[in-house]
Amino acid sequence: MRTYYCGEVRQQQIGETLTFWGWVDRRRDHGGVIFLDLRDRTGIIQIVSDPQRTPDSYEHAEALRNEYVVKVTGRVSQRPEESLNPKLPTGEVEVYADSIELLNAVRKQLPFQVSTADLEPVREDLRLKYRYLDLRRGRMSKNLQLRHQVVKAMRRYLEDQQGFIEVETPILTRSTPEGARDYLVPSRVNPSQWYALPQSPQLFKQLLMVSGLDRYYQIARCFRDEDLRADRQPEFTQLDMEMSFLSQEEILQLNEELIAYIFKTVKGIDLPIPFPRLTYAEAMEYYGSDKPDTRFGLKLVNLSQLLKDSGFKVFSGAIKAGGVVKVLPIPGGNAAISNVRIKPGGDLFKEATDAGAKGVAYVRVKAGGEIDTIGAIKDNLSDTQKQELLELTGAEDGHLLLFGAGPTEVVNKTLDRLRLVIGKELGLIDTTKNNLLWVTEFPMFEWNADQKRLEALHHPFTAPYPEDLHDLKTARAQAYDLVFNGYEIGGGSLRIYQQEIQQQVFEAIGLSPEEASNKFGFLLEAFEYGAPPHGGIAYGLDRLVMLLAGEESIRDVIAFPKTQQASCLLTDAPSGVDAKQLKELHVASTYKPKT
Ligand code: AMO
Repeated sequence: MRTYYCGEVRQQQIGETLTFWGWVDRRRDHGGVIFLDLRDRTGIIQIVSDPQRTPDSYEHAEALRNEYVVKVTGRVSQRPEESLNPKLPTGEVEVYADSIELLNAVRKQLPFQVSTADLEPVREDLRLKYRYLDLRRGRMSKNLQLRHQVVKAMRRYLEDQQGFIEVETPILTRSTPEGARDYLVPSRVNPSQWYALPQSPQLFKQLLMVSGLDRYYQIARCFRDEDLRADRQPEFTQLDMEMSFLSQEEILQLNEELIAYIFKTVKGIDLPIPFPRLTYAEAMEYYGSDKPDTRFGLKLVNLSQLLKDSGFKVFSGAIKAGGVVKVLPIPGGNAAISNVRIKPGGDLFKEATDAGAKGVAYVRVKAGGEIDTIGAIKDNLSDTQKQELLELTGAEDGHLLLFGAGPTEVVNKTLDRLRLVIGKELGLIDTTKNNLLWVTEFPMFEWNADQKRLEALHHPFTAPYPEDLHDLKTARAQAYDLVFNGYEIGGGSLRIYQQEIQQQVFEAIGLSPEEASNKFGFLLEAFEYGAPPHGGIAYGLDRLVMLLAGEESIRDVIAFPKTQQASCLLTDAPSGVDAKQLKELHVASTYKPKT
């Protein structure tokens, strides 16, 4: 029987004889005395085998190598002064092994050393191919355990304190309206028909409200075939929630308490609630982003009013064409950022052009508010304009001002990117902060330039503000996102439950009544049988855990993630299938490999 996990032994156990099961993390031979670091999911304990003191275990200890699986029984002792290890929670004790039993050896060369992999970077493709070894490491094992703690806290709060009920919704279903590409599954028994994997349980959770379930949640797997990044996976997990009869205010409050409960339970951190809020319009104005990292300043300043008649055509032209001129003021930027970096060929220039800008204009502020810049801007600023520029931006000696001029979207995207890069580089981000922020009042629609039509920004079931109904195209949605240190970790909305408004929204996005009925007829019909007012939210569990774990990729908090190419290096999925299987499914490939 196991009496203790390796990482749990402390001085209180000195003198006890305990049994451990685990892996040899490292084996060291110190002039005849063998030291083993024995590891399980809780951590490491030092095992000692000595030909004099523990002759029975010595022979076995000698034969052990890294990652062998063993059972060890021995007496816990105080470590001598010189071998205390304050870095280990078990660092004050060691176990003299009375017996060591080899349960299994390692038969192949290890692809990487598990024991040192927390210290030296290992190639990610190797880690993913041998994920079971990667997950033996302390860091990864801790991440999975943290993920479990987060889910447990969610369940405790929602079930025990708020009366939520978990309901499972189908995985083989119809297309859901989250705007990404679907993963499709062919139906064998219904030739040429396809299921879609859910992009979220959106439609089902709304149906559950019509069913009178009142408060639903689910730890739900979602599938989206979209371009992958460090914070996106093709399959990911949401904490998905839906509630009837609550106002937006009540939903936000319940969710603040949920998040505060998670932080308190898993990290011991008291988050102040309510969380700060910004409207979408404010977030875009001051940060150029709908998920601003508010751990540092560097707020954008809009200069369109000041520069609308500027003789510098790049500025006035942009404003006349319906765009903006905004500036990112950087205190101390003169010393920190050279001209070379802002001009063509420079890294900041590249950031800007990657965001769609043609370039970056800049101004350096010197002692006494003197403005130093390339001629074009300076020559076109009157003394009062210069004065106003300094006042609006708060610029003083040493400030660098980076300008964006052009279409609002491009300017915001450009200055948002520059703000993040520079904030990080100048060490302005206080990494001890946990900044949670609601962004509210999103627009209902955005313009899809490719398809030349309006598109629901959240999804087409999101309710507009009643006072904006007179002009739906510019209406604000009763939608909210939760942003955590610059990441969107959750989003939701109040839903439309009145048919007339739903029709108007479909019309606005160019969906004819037939198309709407084809796609969502079952939901619209359900709404005719007495739908309660309702709303909800979904959190990206992977992102939340990533941030709580201090990781930079969600792959590091998912047990078996996929690569940027959406493949699993461990199982080699996706893979080809037998012609027979395809035939049964009535599917043929049209793919022609390039020759
Ligand atoms: P949304 O599409 O905003 O809303 O998704 C909710 C949250 O899920 C996370 N997320 C992802 N995480 C990892 N990989 C991805 N590919 C990925 N895509 C999204 C984000 C996001 O905030 N049905 C609505 C919710 C609702 O209205 O109730 C929905 O799915 O953290």
